[in-house]
Formats: sequence, structure tokens, C-alpha cells
Amino acid sequence: MEKLRETWGSNIGFILAATGSAIGLGNIWKFPYITGDYGGGAFVLVYLACVLMIGLPLMVAELIIGRRAQKNPVKAFEKNHRAKSPWQLTGWLGMASGFIILSFYSVIAGWAMAYIFKSIRGFAGTSEQIQQQFVDLVLSPSGSIMWHTIFMVLVIGIVAGGIKGGIERWSKILMPALFMLLLGLMLHGLFNTTGGIAALNFLFAPDFSRLTAEAVLSALGHAFFTLSLGMGAMITYGSYMKKGSGIVKDAIIISFLDTFIALMAGVAIFSLVFHYGMEPGQSVGLIFKTLPVLFADTGPWVSVPFFILLTFAALTSGISLLEVVVVYFIDEKGWSRVKITLLAGGLVYIFGLLSAIATLTIPFRGSDQTFLDVFDFMTTNYMLPLGGLFTCLFIGWVMKEDDMAEEFGSRGMLLKLLRLALRYLTPIGIAMVLLHGLELLPFMDY
Ligand code: PHE
Repeated sequence: MEKLRETWGSNIGFILAATGSAIGLGNIWKFPYITGDYGGGAFVLVYLACVLMIGLPLMVAELIIGRRAQKNPVKAFEKNHRAKSPWQLTGWLGMASGFIILSFYSVIAGWAMAYIFKSIRGFAGTSEQIQQQFVDLVLSPSGSIMWHTIFMVLVIGIVAGGIKGGIERWSKILMPALFMLLLGLMLHGLFNTTGGIAALNFLFAPDFSRLTAEAVLSALGHAFFTLSLGMGAMITYGSYMKKGSGIVKDAIIISFLDTFIALMAGVAIFSLVFHYGMEPGQSVGLIFKTLPVLFADTGPWVSVPFFILLTFAALTSGISLLEVVVVYFIDEKGWSRVKITLLAGGLVYIFGLLSAIATLTIPFRGSDQTFLDVFDFMTTNYMLPLGGLFTCLFIGWVMKEDDMAEEFGSRGMLLKLLRLALRYLTPIGIAMVLLHGLELLPFMDY
């Protein structure tokens, strides 16, 4: 007899955990920096469109697949189709994505942790000196490696202990705290600095002449990254869901909170950028260079909680990444949770050293880039969208409509719309953006 699968303690517990997976460095570190790099408004608009038209239907799809099967992502595709179904490769692709993403995610989360301690000491000096601290941290491999090590130890520790107890409890307090702090920073940016209006303009007034094919691809990729889609995280979390709760409502809440937090972070950070006359396009260093200049004035009372909460947000996301990698081996191979978590986490850690050493570079798309940038680009822009593409093709064309309808809960108009979206709109949308990103769309000239 199959043993009964554990479920979340409550539906709120599920929402917190899934939101915890979604909200992380993607919202606070990555969204502002890629928005800066790709020139603002038009990029933001495409990203919002991707969240709404592709991300949201896909999140519903992943939750349905997971809850229906009550299995890990690999098995979930088999269970919803047939034994040895080739669609299970989507699950394997997701595990590979989770592995690679966590390897560099941990390095950035490590920087956030390093900044907790820098905050306690306080930021002082000129704006250039404060910004230089980030460069020094990144270029000192020992510093980055040490924090990468600490972050991975935390992730491994939590996942080895089983993720369902602790996360629910902590998220209830810390997620709202993060929300309030960001709200405060956003209001500060809007009303206390001279950069508020410029920030709103930068973020929301689109200038389509600046929208490159790569920007469109990155906007799509980021929609996947920030919502934890295309790699089985939501399938996994959905598999612990109790039957009967409203999947669509939950997906809307999660996507909305995630998007809202990113936009708040964007307004907060770009107000500072324009207030202090900095450059928006600062790549991976953006938040680590701009926020501390503000924190030099506010003191540790703001900066210490900020970086603690950022680390916590990264932790709840990092956990979901590792959970996807290990859960298959626990479910199907009967390995002990502790053993496989140590093994997989250890391998992720070693692989992550490549990203931690910023002086190592490889030629990629015409220039020398760090491993961190290359892994980020490959997973976010190609692996996650590909995983998402297979997932919607699967639920739209392969999984039985009745099974889908049963999980969905009703057979009305909404289900019809969702099915249409997942059969045509979402896959065609993803495929076009992927081809556009590779500059292969036939009717465009590149
Ligand atoms: N969504 C997380 C973030 O925005 C990252 C993540 C991606 C987590 C994919 C799980 C799966 O930080």
C-alpha cells in the first residue's frame, strides 16, 4: 500500500511556502538590476505581460499536475500520463535547472549575508567608497566562498530536517516583516528623495526603441525565475496540497504578492539611484551598491533588518530549489532524506564554487563572463522557459481533460479559458520568445 503523503498544515501554510519560494533574490536583487540593464519601462511592461499571460496559467498548471499526482516532478508526469512517459524528462530538466540555479543563487544570498555584518559595522565614507566595498567582496574569492558555504549549510540543514514544519512557522512572521520594510523603503524613496518621480518614469514609461530581442527573452525568463516556474518547484509544493482548495485563487495570490514585492523593490531602489545620480545599469551589484549609500544615513536599524530579511527570503527560495533536486530520490529510490540532501547539497556547493570565484571567466556571447552570469542566463532564459513549454504542452494536450477538470474544481468558462491558454497561447508565446531570443523568428529582421 502506498503511504499517505504528508500535506501542508493548512492552506495558509501552503500559500506561505509557495510565496516563500517565489519571493526571493529574484524580486529584490534581480528584478531591479535587469530592469536597470535593459532600460526600464518597456522591459517592465513585457515582464508584467509575461507574468499575466504565461506565468499565471502555468502556475495553475503546475499546481494541478502536482496535486493530482501527489508525486515529485519526475513521477508526476508519469502518473498523469503513463509509466515510462517521455514527459518525465521535463521533471529531470527541472531537477537540473534547480541544481544549477541553487549553485549561483547561494553565492548571491551569501553576499546578502555578508551585508548583514557590514551593516552592523555601519556604512561610512563617500558614495564611491561604499560602492567599492561590494567590488572588494566579490573579487575576494575567500569572502564569497565563505558566505556561499554558510548559506548552503543552512539550506542543507533545513531541507534535511524536512521542509514542512519550520517554513510554515517562520514565514508567518518574516514574510510580512519583509513586506513592511520594503513598503517603508518604497515610501521613503517616493516622498523623501528627489528621485521618486524619475524612478516611476523609469519603471513605468515604456520606451520601446530600447527593447532588444534579448530584453524580451530576459523578461520572459525572469517571469519564470521569479515565480519559481518551469522547474517543478510548484509541482512539488502542489503535491503537498490538500485536495479541495482553490488552485486558481492561490496562484493569483502568489503571483500578485510576488509581482508587488518586485515593483516595490524597484521603486525603492531606483528612487535612490536617481536621487544620488547613479547609473541604473549596474548589473549584479545594483542593490549592494545603491542601498548602502542610503543606509549610511539611516544607520543599522534599517540595514540590518533589511539584509536579514533578504537572506531569509533567499533561504525560503533556496530550500525549494534543493527540495526539487532531492524529493525524487526520497520518493522513488527510498533514500533517506538526510543522506540525499547531504549528497545533492554537497554537489551543488562544489559546483557553486565556480560562481563564487568571480575572477574565473569564460567566453560567452561575445565577451568574457563570470560563471555566475552564464549559469544565470542559461537557466533563466532557456532552461526554465523550456521546462514551462513542456509543462503546458503536457497539461494541454496529453493529460486527460477530466483529470485536469477535477483538480480545477469546476467546469465553467474559466476552465475553458485556461485550457485554451495552455494549449495555444502559452506554448506559442514561449516558443516565439525563445526563437526571438535566438534571433530566429522568420518575420523579423535582426
Ligand atoms: N523565485 C525565486 C526568486 O525569485 C527563485 C527560484 C527560482 C526559486 C526557481 C525556485 C525555483 O528568488
